[in-house]
Amino acid sequence: MSESICIFALEKLTFLFLCSMKTLKALLVSLVFMMPHSLLAEVNIIPQPTRVTEKTGSFVLKPNATIAYNSKSLQPAAEYLREKLKPATGYELPIGKGKKADIVLSLTTQTETGAEGYKLTSSEKGILIEAADYRGIIHGIATLRQLLPYQIEKATLQPYVTWMVPAVEIEDTPNFEWRGMMLDPVRHFFTLEETKRFLDIMALYKFSKFHWHLVDSQGWRLEIKKYPLLTDNSGYRDPEGEHWDRRCNEIAKNDNNPRMIVPMTGEFTRMKNGKLEYGGFYTQDEVRDLIEYATVRGIDIVPEFDVPGHSYAATKEYPWLSCNNDGRDPICVGKDTSLEFCRNVYKEIFDLFPYEYVEIGGDEVNRSAWKKCADCQKRIQDQGLKDEAELQSWFTCTMEKYFNENGKKLIGWDEILEGGVSKSATVNWWRGDHTDVVQRSTSGGNEVILCPFTFCYFDYNQDNNTIQKLYTGDIVPTDLSAEQMKLIKGMQGNIWCERIPTEAQMQYMVFPRALALAEKAWTKNTQQNWDGFYSRLQKHIQRLNTMGVEQRPLVE
Ligand code: ACM
Ligand code: ZN
Repeated sequence: MSESICIFALEKLTFLFLCSMKTLKALLVSLVFMMPHSLLAEVNIIPQPTRVTEKTGSFVLKPNATIAYNSKSLQPAAEYLREKLKPATGYELPIGKGKKADIVLSLTTQTETGAEGYKLTSSEKGILIEAADYRGIIHGIATLRQLLPYQIEKATLQPYVTWMVPAVEIEDTPNFEWRGMMLDPVRHFFTLEETKRFLDIMALYKFSKFHWHLVDSQGWRLEIKKYPLLTDNSGYRDPEGEHWDRRCNEIAKNDNNPRMIVPMTGEFTRMKNGKLEYGGFYTQDEVRDLIEYATVRGIDIVPEFDVPGHSYAATKEYPWLSCNNDGRDPICVGKDTSLEFCRNVYKEIFDLFPYEYVEIGGDEVNRSAWKKCADCQKRIQDQGLKDEAELQSWFTCTMEKYFNENGKKLIGWDEILEGGVSKSATVNWWRGDHTDVVQRSTSGGNEVILCPFTFCYFDYNQDNNTIQKLYTGDIVPTDLSAEQMKLIKGMQGNIWCERIPTEAQMQYMVFPRALALAEKAWTKNTQQNWDGFYSRLQKHIQRLNTMGVEQRPLVE
């Protein structure tokens, strides 16, 4: 046989094979359409709701469907829902006021699901989401998204999907109000769009707090109008001069991992004096935009201006902030001018962020400079303090007064306990090896957010057991009384970004393990079940993939 005849025969065979594949596919598609809808639709919700009653039948979302809401305050929720459903379905669902529609969002005093809770009822006739507050409706929308086929999360039109929702009655209430994630855009920068994408994923899994670590020694990411050098200079840096940038690029090369390359293009760079610099910052207008975005999604933003340590980005620009004007970290708390600086920065933060909680930081302060500083020592004497730990405590309490005068509440990393703290401060327990922190905080009357590095540091390396360890571990210490338990506000995952230079690497480190934290924070302990969670998690891998979220494989 000549070569051309041979190729001809091969092409014909391929053609026949493709034709039969097409027939098979058509057959399968029609079989799927003939199956009862309830056999196809599955209930796989993370975090596991309080009560799920599966019914027979299903609701199918059609192009002529409508959305209604019964209170003006729900209009942003209705628009958010429409926006979420549009790309994959292609439907422009009309929104109206009232209670007659295929999907009804209803604020009501009749529900027993409490703050942030919701009731979702779906049947062939339609979907009703009822809640006592806006956030409950938003969480009901998250559940509705998870009841729909995973393709609903596609950014492009999916014309062959039947948008089926199984008939079900769900009543759901969160266990903890604080279900947080902390992101560090200082060590490496994340654009506003990337941050919005992160908030979007948080909303799907009912996280409620976004702790934004905006300031640290390696950079300053928030526009402060009174001190422009903070962002003009400390917003950018020479990546060759920064240890973590060099380290990331080195790992990228050694592991052949493009997610680890520090991006030196577009929004991550600027030219200064003929040199390309890395970084970025958020203008106050951009922050307002992000706050609105988060608010629609039921998320509070907790800004952090970390003082008096982790402050080199400020002290190098304004050396008078440091002991002996040497431009080093930490801030000198002996000088009134430093206190005035802190108050001025916080004032702009207070005016910008509506949420009542603001984070002071207070972690890992190298207090040795204070020992040798005349101003700091004078402050210790004047205030009758014992040592530098008490000096930090004095600083924290002084700042807290200013917070309170401005209607704000203070949160700090658990070092704020050293040297004493007021009862009204909230403590972020992060030092997992300091196992007495929660006991000490709560017996002193302080509320606690649990984020011990032993479970909740999502920048820490992961192995095949990490998620199970997180899910089954005792993040809530087991030695607390019922009274102390009332002071546990909730849990938080922390994403420090020294070794996370891109959104892709951030997602790879955080997902899917953050879903285990979402369930631990939302679902009652007695309802948590590893096998059940793991089986649901496997379905969510596909959903996250569809959203374009990078993930570490469950088993590697
Ligand atoms: C921290 O990890 N330094 C709070
Ligand atoms: Zn000093």
